[in-house]
Amino acid sequence: MNRDTGSDADEGSLEHVALHRRKRMTTIEKWEAGVPAWRLVMDLNDKVALVTGGGRGIGRATAQQLAAKGVSVAIAARSTAELDEVVTEIEASGGRAIGCPTDVTDKAAVHQTRDRVMSEFGRIDILVNNAGVAIHNPIVDVREEDWDLNIAVNLKGTFLCTQAVFAHMCERGSGHIVNVSSVSGNRGHVRGAAYCAAKAGAIALTETTDAEGRPHGVKATVICPGPVDTRMRRENHPNDVLENLGQPEGIADAILFVLSQPDSAHTIELIVRTPLM
Ligand SMILES: NC(=O)c1ccc[n+]([C@@H]2O[C@H](COP(=O)([O-])OP(=O)(O)OC[C@H]3O[C@@H](n4cnc5c(N)ncnc54)[C@H](OP(=O)(O)O)[C@@H]3O)[C@@H](O)[C@H]2O)c1
Repeated sequence: MNRDTGSDADEGSLEHVALHRRKRMTTIEKWEAGVPAWRLVMDLNDKVALVTGGGRGIGRATAQQLAAKGVSVAIAARSTAELDEVVTEIEASGGRAIGCPTDVTDKAAVHQTRDRVMSEFGRIDILVNNAGVAIHNPIVDVREEDWDLNIAVNLKGTFLCTQAVFAHMCERGSGHIVNVSSVSGNRGHVRGAAYCAAKAGAIALTETTDAEGRPHGVKATVICPGPVDTRMRRENHPNDVLENLGQPEGIADAILFVLSQPDSAHTIELIVRTPLM
């Protein structure tokens, strides 16, 4: 008879793991109870996530999938109509969500959103920095304002949101920050000067976040998707063959995968190739 679970299941058996999950033991408690580290898949139920750029595309799919796993989701973007739609969909499916109109380039707005999530949900376990823009042009034609916007949303916004939740996560001794970069952050391409530079910065920022966070139990991961069928992609590449594109749900799957990984197998960078690559 197992003392913790009151069952006859063998230590380490799937039944034993399931019983421990039902008891909602913390990872440390499971470890101490002798469950093998590779089986300690994180249970997302009852966690709280802030997803930026969650009004459409990859962020929307991520918010929906998190909510379906029992996560309370705060969704931040500028378009209130899109936020309202996602919140309504999540609530209709029995999930819990709030829409937080936010421009991630505005530090005061980011802090206001952080404070609202804290007051409504009590804490922030997960931050998905997904908000992004892509304005592509050959180097000679890049306008200064377009350079600044690419960097402001994709890189500075990621930093401001990270900074806003970081101390809170470190104090609690847990948290996971997932940054949505791009394959364009690994390898520059024609017409991508500002976007590629911003996305490369987001990859480096993830490394720093992880290095500073892990001693305090806070992890960071960067997801680098290939081309995905969203408004951003369609606006920049109107002649794409749709079958060659990934789907937002596939990238959301990847985000949920890294969030569910045990501490013993932390993924710092995940490249999600799509048919065009
Ligand atoms: N689609 C692709 O092929 C692809 C490939 C690799 C990586 N990515 C990355 O994936 C992420 C999501 O892009 P997507 O393809 O899903 O694009 P999308 O459909 O255009 O969605 C972008 C989201 O970001 C939000 N956003 C933009 N500027 C913002 C700001 N200043 N403050 C707050 N939110 C802002 C948008 O909402 P509002 O406009 O209402 O603010 C929207 O919700 C981006 O970081 C993008 O770079 C996309």
